Amino acid sequence: MKIDKFEKRVLIITLSVIGLFIFSLLYAKNKYQTDLPECLPYNKVYTEPKINKIDSTTYQVFSVASMWQFEPGEIYVPVGSEVDFYLTSKDVVHGFNIAQKNVNMMAVYGSINKTTVKFDKPGVYDIVCHEYCGVGHQNMRAQVIVNYPTAK
Ligand code: CUA
Repeated sequence: MKIDKFEKRVLIITLSVIGLFIFSLLYAKNKYQTDLPECLPYNKVYTEPKINKIDSTTYQVFSVASMWQFEPGEIYVPVGSEVDFYLTSKDVVHGFNIAQKNVNMMAVYGSINKTTVKFDKPGVYDIVCHEYCGVGHQNMRAQVIVNYPTAK
């Protein structure tokens, strides 16, 4: 079978662009050390917000979005923590964006999204809703506060 010269050129360009996309995705994943979000099965759904401390630098945050707040609203973790964020919604679709950490998820009723973030530097990391969800949308925010552990 003979391939037309023009078709061959288009194929090469297409495959290069696909390759570039995959390379960019993997490069960004390594550079920013963020996990690609996963979607968990419906039967694992939770409704109550909570923070679980697994050990001194490993945490699980079960975040619940609703009109117009995130619960928990303030999350305190020490520097160097690895945090698994689980996310669901009580009502409409909300966004979950931590700009400084390139986190971009959606909170959807009846479903759970999950991502893992490592906080290597101290500071206050804003979580904002970036999906329009009604009149209180612009007030919908939470914070991750990352600090050095205080000596006891
Ligand atoms: Cu929730 Cu916008």
